[in-house]
Amino acid sequence: MTKSWAKLLAIPALLAGAAQALHFTNVIPVESYYEIGSEFVLQWEPEARTDGFKLDVFSFLGTPILVSPNGGPLGGPIYDYQSQTVLLGNDVKFNAGNFTWVVAPISGRTGAEWYYSFGASWQYGSTSPRAFHLKAAS
Ligand SMILES: *[C@@H]1O[C@H](CO)[C@@H](O)[C@H](O)[C@H]1NC(C)=O
Repeated sequence: MTKSWAKLLAIPALLAGAAQALHFTNVIPVESYYEIGSEFVLQWEPEARTDGFKLDVFSFLGTPILVSPNGGPLGGPIYDYQSQTVLLGNDVKFNAGNFTWVVAPISGRTGAEWYYSFGASWQYGSTSPRAFHLKAAS
């Protein structure tokens, strides 16, 4: 009896949790390259709400520059990822389900050493799908 109640209660609790998180559904394989000028349709599970999130795309070094071997707050190293961010939208609706980005480099960064990632943030959280690389159109 107790056990079956626990089962019944667990399901709505899980659904409530899922409804508060943004789930990107794109399949971005490890070490993917996207062509400059192509359309990247970022997709997520649409949510039944009317508010939006902030969407950025940012670029960073795969192998960061060591700035200080032990100058960090806990005596650890400080790295510089040379991160640069471009705002794509301040109020991208959770219920839209997709956003099209025409792939464009930030500061000319392409190739294996530079990664790109989308970043979504809102009042209660933030998330990113897997990072990728850019390459010139073929
Ligand atoms: C994007 O979402 C809209 C609905 O908001 C839908 O009509 C359209 O087909 C979607 N586009 C893609 C490429 O998934």
